[in-house]
Amino acid sequence: MKSVPKAPDQLPLISARERATGLKSLRQEAAHCKNCDLWRNATQTVFGVGSPKAKVMLVGEQPGDMEDRKGLPFVGPAGRILDEALVLAGIDRSEVYVTNAVKHFKWTPAERGKRRIHKKPRQSEIQACRPWLDAELAAVQPDVLVCLGATAAQAILGAKFRVTQSRGKWIESPLASRVLATVHPSSILRAQDDESRNTQMQAFIADLRVVADALKQSKKAA
Ligand code: URA
Repeated sequence: MKSVPKAPDQLPLISARERATGLKSLRQEAAHCKNCDLWRNATQTVFGVGSPKAKVMLVGEQPGDMEDRKGLPFVGPAGRILDEALVLAGIDRSEVYVTNAVKHFKWTPAERGKRRIHKKPRQSEIQACRPWLDAELAAVQPDVLVCLGATAAQAILGAKFRVTQSRGKWIESPLASRVLATVHPSSILRAQDDESRNTQMQAFIADLRVVADALKQSKKAA
């Protein structure tokens, strides 16, 4: 499956029903994806979830251990941070579609025990998965696209993009009217102590408030 991303103003206007049907068949097709080798060690494809009418699309890196088992994105520890931050930023989950740049869990066995350790996806794996992300973008047509962390940001905005330098700012992109990158919620889980975890969480919420404000404006304008 190959696709070329289209600028938002070139996308055909599609009804809510067409969006829902489109996403449903994409999800079914993606369940058999063998575009790269990651399917071999993963339990299942973890496709995006959320309203087909969502105004905001959040893109993470790849499913984690819990997501791989449940078949849903952001349902593990990073998902809990994300949910909490969305609530505190005033973003309703029903307005959000959540997905990942890579749709299979890449992992390596822990040296001892049964734990599966997250492994960063390679560029070739990100590229192999890109048609699914483009198809989700074309089906949902979000007003706002949010990249969570460097992998998603670089997959979407280019290898030179630095989240540390440009987080929380609107970035010019043909993929949506408004595009912004912020940190990955799992980086907050890795904070050294409570104080830095709290500081990082507040910064994450501040970035998401930029999104919440844009949503309010677009609702007023509609
Ligand atoms: N991290 C991600 O990037 N995505 C998930 O779905 C879960 C954890």
